[in-house]
Amino acid sequence: MWTREAAHLAEERITITVDGRDVEVSNGELLIQAAQDNGTYIPRFCWHPRMKPVGMCRMCLVEVDSPRGKRMVTSCTTPCNDGMVVDTESAVVKKAQEGILEFLLINHPLDCPVCDRGGECPLQDQTMAYGPGESRFVEEKRHFEKPIEISDLVLLDRERCILCARCTRFSDEISGDPLIEFKERGNYTQVLTFPDEPFASYFSGNTVQICPVGALTAKPYRFRARPWDLEAVESTCTTCSVGCRISVQASQNQVLRFLGVDNDATNQSWLCDKGRFGFEAINSAERLTEPLVRGEDGELHPATWSDALDVVADRLSAVRGDEVAGLGGARGTNEEAFAFGKFLRTVVVTPHLDSQLADGLDPDLLVGLTPRASIDDLERARTIILWGPDLKEELPVLYLRVRRAAQELGANLIIVHPRRTGLDDVAARKVTYRPGDGASVLADLMADPALAEMIADGPIVGLIGRTGLAEDDRLPEAVAAWVRDLDGASLVPLTRRGNVYGALDMGIAPSLLPGRVSIADDAGRAALEEHWHLVPDGAGLDATGILDGLNAKTLKALVLLGSDPVRDHPDPVLARSALENAEFVVALDVFLNDSSARADVVLPVEGFAESEGTVTNLEGRVQKVNRLIPGPGQSR
Ligand code: SF4
Ligand code: SF4
Ligand code: FES
Repeated sequence: MWTREAAHLAEERITITVDGRDVEVSNGELLIQAAQDNGTYIPRFCWHPRMKPVGMCRMCLVEVDSPRGKRMVTSCTTPCNDGMVVDTESAVVKKAQEGILEFLLINHPLDCPVCDRGGECPLQDQTMAYGPGESRFVEEKRHFEKPIEISDLVLLDRERCILCARCTRFSDEISGDPLIEFKERGNYTQVLTFPDEPFASYFSGNTVQICPVGALTAKPYRFRARPWDLEAVESTCTTCSVGCRISVQASQNQVLRFLGVDNDATNQSWLCDKGRFGFEAINSAERLTEPLVRGEDGELHPATWSDALDVVADRLSAVRGDEVAGLGGARGTNEEAFAFGKFLRTVVVTPHLDSQLADGLDPDLLVGLTPRASIDDLERARTIILWGPDLKEELPVLYLRVRRAAQELGANLIIVHPRRTGLDDVAARKVTYRPGDGASVLADLMADPALAEMIADGPIVGLIGRTGLAEDDRLPEAVAAWVRDLDGASLVPLTRRGNVYGALDMGIAPSLLPGRVSIADDAGRAALEEHWHLVPDGAGLDATGILDGLNAKTLKALVLLGSDPVRDHPDPVLARSALENAEFVVALDVFLNDSSARADVVLPVEGFAESEGTVTNLEGRVQKVNRLIPGPGQSR
C-alpha cells in the first residue's frame, strides 16, 4: 500500500501522535503523507506522492518511539500504525536534516543565480529552512560537462543532480520507457541516458517538472523567465480529449510554460510532451493578427474587421441558407461551439454542420453511450477492455492511467488492435488482427470461453474507439454493445479532438441539436424553437457529405471554425477540391493552414490562454479553460 489513493482507500482509521498532537490517519498510510495531511510538513527530495517510495535522499528522517527507545526512520517509507508517536522537530532530527543538506551540497554547484530552478527549487528552499547555514567542505567539487542535451526538449546538468531517482522511477514505473538511468557507482554515480539513445519519451517533460533541483531543464523554458516574474492561471489542456489540468504560466504576455496540476480525476499531475510543449504555437510569429480578404488578384489582403464582416454577410446572404455548411467547433470551447451552431442553424438557417471529419465516432453513439465510466474508474477496474486507437499516440495521459491500472493495480488489460500498441507489454491478453477484420474478430471473442472466464468479474471498463480508418465505422457500436452487456461494465468513448464531446453536446453534428437532442425528436426541437424561433427540419449532411455537396455544387458556401479538412479529413483530395469548388469560404482560425489559406475571408480568432470558457473531455467532464494573455493583433 504505497499510493496516496490506496492509503485513502484503507477504511480503518487509527490515531498517531505527531509532535505531541494526536491525529487520525488511515492505517498503513505513509507517515510523510499522513503528517502533511494533518498540517506537519516533513522535508523531502526523493518522495513523490504518485510514485513508489525509495528512501534515497534521507531528508525525511523523523524520530519514532519504539520498545527500544526512539529510533530514526525515513517517513516516506514508514507506514503509520496505531499509537505511533512521531517527533519531526527533535534536536536529533534537526541535526540529521542539517547533515543531509550539508552532504547533498558537497557536490552541488553554487549555480542558483543562473539556474532555471532558482526561486522554486526544493533544494534551495529546504537549505534555507532546514540547512546548517554554512558548509565545512572546502575541497574541489565533482565536475561534469554541463549541460548535455539528452533530447530535443530536455537538458541534463549532472553536477546539479542529487541522485533522488525521481526521473528514473518516473520513466520506469509511470511512463514505461526507461530511457534514463543511473550509471557508475559511489562518488561517480550519475544519471544518464543510454549511449546513442536520446531521451525520446513522450512524457519527458514530467521528469523536468518533478526534478527537485535544476538538473533537468526544458529547452523551451530555459532562461526565459524567473518564477517570480510569472503570472499563472489554472486551465485545461485541449490538445486531446483527456482534459489534463494544467497551470498556464506567462511573462510579459508570452506563455512560457505549462505545468501539470495534480487532479485525481484526470491526469494525476502528469502531462504528455505534446500537451506540455504545445504552448510554443501560441507565441508563434505566424499567428493571424488581422482579417484577410481575397482580392480580385486572387491573393489574401489585410482588411478591417468591419470590411471583412461585410463581405461575409453579403456573400452568405447571396445564397440560400441550406446551401451553406459549417465544419468545426471541436477544437475550441463549448461556448464557441454553441455560438457556431446557433449562428448556422438560426441566422444562416442550415442543417449542414459537423464537428468531426469522418475520422471519429458516430455522434449518436457518442452521446448515447451508457453506462458511462470515468477515467478514475480505471483505479478500481478488475478488467479493462481496450478496443480503439493506440492510447500512447492519441490520448497519452489516458495511456498512463491504463498502464498504472494494469501494472500497479492488477487490472486485467485486454487489447484488441490490428497493430502493436504502447500498452502491449502490460496486457493480460492482446488480440492482433488484419485491419478490416474487426467484425469477425468480435464474433470470435464473444464465443471465446477463455476470454469469458477472464472477464467474468467486474468492474469492467471498456475503452471504445476507432482503431483506424480501414475499419468499418460501425464496429465501435458493435463493440460497445458487447461490452455493455457484460456484468459490471461501463464505457468510455475514445474521441480524438480536444472538445469533440462538448461540440456534440452543443449540437455540432448533422443529427443532433444542443443538449444531446436528436433532430428527429419533435418535442425536443419544439422546446428549442421556443428560444431559437426557427430550427431547420431534418438531419443535415456530415463532413464527407458537405465536401461532396461543395464538389457537386449543391452546396455553395462553407464556414470553417478551427477546422482544417484539407489536412485532417481522410480524403484530402476531396477536401481540397471542395474548397476550390465552393463559391465562398470563410475561415475563423489562429493560423493560415492548408484550408484557411484557400478561404475567401479569414478572420483571426483568439487561441488557447487568450479566451475563456469550458471544454468537455472524453468522459463528459466539463472543465474550465482560462484567459491569461490577450490575443495577438486584432484577433477576437
Ligand atoms: S536528474 Fe533530478 S530527478 Fe533525476 S535523479 Fe537527479 S535530481 Fe533526481
Ligand atoms: S494527454 Fe491530452 S489533454 Fe493531457 S497533456 Fe497530453 S495532449 Fe493534453
Ligand atoms: S524523501 Fe524520504 S528518503 Fe527521500
